[in-house]
Parts: sequence; C-alpha cells; structure tokens
Amino acid sequence: MECLDLTTERLLLRPLSLSDRDLSGELRTNPEVVKYLGEPMTPDGVEQYMPVWIRRGGPNGCIGVWRASIKVTGEKIGTGALLPLPIEEEDTNWDTIIENEMPDGDTEVGYILKQSAWGKGYATEICRCLLRFAFEESPLNEVVATFDIENRKSRRVLEKCGFTDKGMRRAYAHEAPDFRISCDQWIANGQAG
Ligand SMILES: CC(C)(COP(=O)(O)OP(=O)(O)OC[C@H]1O[C@@H](n2cnc3c(N)ncnc32)[C@H](O)[C@@H]1OP(=O)(O)O)[C@@H](O)C(=O)NCCC(=O)NCCS
Repeated sequence: MECLDLTTERLLLRPLSLSDRDLSGELRTNPEVVKYLGEPMTPDGVEQYMPVWIRRGGPNGCIGVWRASIKVTGEKIGTGALLPLPIEEEDTNWDTIIENEMPDGDTEVGYILKQSAWGKGYATEICRCLLRFAFEESPLNEVVATFDIENRKSRRVLEKCGFTDKGMRRAYAHEAPDFRISCDQWIANGQAG
C-alpha cells in the first residue's frame, strides 16, 4: 500500500490507526461533538470500534478515515473520512470497505473535530484536502456529503468547498440534504493543483 499521509497548510492527515484511540475516545464520547451524529459512545464501545474505523478500502486504500494533527505542535485535532454513504442504515457498512475494491454507490466526505479546534477553519482545510486526494489520487469522480439539517456549520464547510446543494435525498435512514461535487466541477472551481 502507498503512503497515504496527506498535508495541508497547517495539518497532517494520516490514516487512523490503533494508536489514535485517545483521539477517537475524545471525539466519540463527547455529547457536544456527536450532537448531530448520534449517541455518545462509552470508552469500551470506542475500543471495540477501533479495529473497524482503521479499515481501508479501494485501490491503494483510498477509502477510509484519516486523523488530522497540527503540523507544528503534533496535536491531534480530529478526523476526516471518505466512506461509503449509508442509505437505509444508521451507520457505514464497514464490511463493504475492502482493500483494492471500490465500494458501490456514493462516497461521502466527513469530518469530526475536538471542540477546542472548532471555529479555526480546520474542517474546511480537511475537506478540501480530501477532495484533492479523491480527484487527483483516487478513482473517485464524485464525492457526496450530507448532514443534520440543524448543523449549519457543516453545511457552511461544504459550501466553502464548492459543493452543490441538490435538495434532499435518502441517507442514514432519513431524508437528508444531498450535497455533491464532481471532479469536473472541482476543476472548474479552480481547486485543482
Ligand atoms: C462542524 C465542524 C466540523 C466545523 O468545523 P470548523 O473547523 O469549526 O469549521 P470551519 O471553521 O472550517 O468552518 C465553519 C464555518 O461555519 C460558520 N459557522 C459557524 N457557526 C455557524 C452557524 N451557527 N451558522 C452558520 N454558519 C456558522 C463559520 O463562520 C465558518 O464559515 P466562514 O469561514 O465562512 O466564517 C465542527 O464544529 C465539528 O467537528 N462538529 C462536530 C462534528 C460534526 O458535526 N461533524 C460534521 C458532521 S456532518
């Protein structure tokens, strides 16, 4: 597998590994952080899920979760992900994430940050970085996104990254916003390197 570390102006994105259980615990057990994502997990639940979250799929492992850290301090601030979008299920079907196979269906981008890192533009930086990776280094031709309708910050991040609002769709077993960006649109937006 190729090295899948990605860099932005301020951040290093590295595939999530078992050594990131501290970060995953901090994110997933905090009710404020998961307010629009579901119920907070217990530390034991996080420990159980770690082997699943570090799974990678697609050619050269292009689908999966990355953890983001600040380059100059090394502080881990959150995660970004490219994952199959669940439609009638409440969660990703991790069984579809198989090395050297692209899952069928839509691939969504997502991001979850520690509260101390909110409001500094980091989610936008992570999202742009994953779009660049998706369109320049992976076979993906389109990336989708959805969010809780109340999560206006997440919507704003997607707008800043050039996503188009396509109305509503089925996702996570609910009617949810349908945001999309194609590789052509990304190039037309002048975001290609
Ligand atoms: C949502 C989240 C990822 C945003 O991260 P962030 O690093 O603070 O986002 P950014 O700073 O890159 O951008 C946020 C934008 O939302 C804007 N914003 C903040 N509060 C807002 C509000 N109440 N309504 C509308 N826009 C708002 C900010 O001003 C900024 O836009 P701007 O640059 O045009 O000013 C972060 O709050 C988080 O991790 N939340 C918990 C997990 C989560 O909900 N993830 C998304 C799942 S879909």
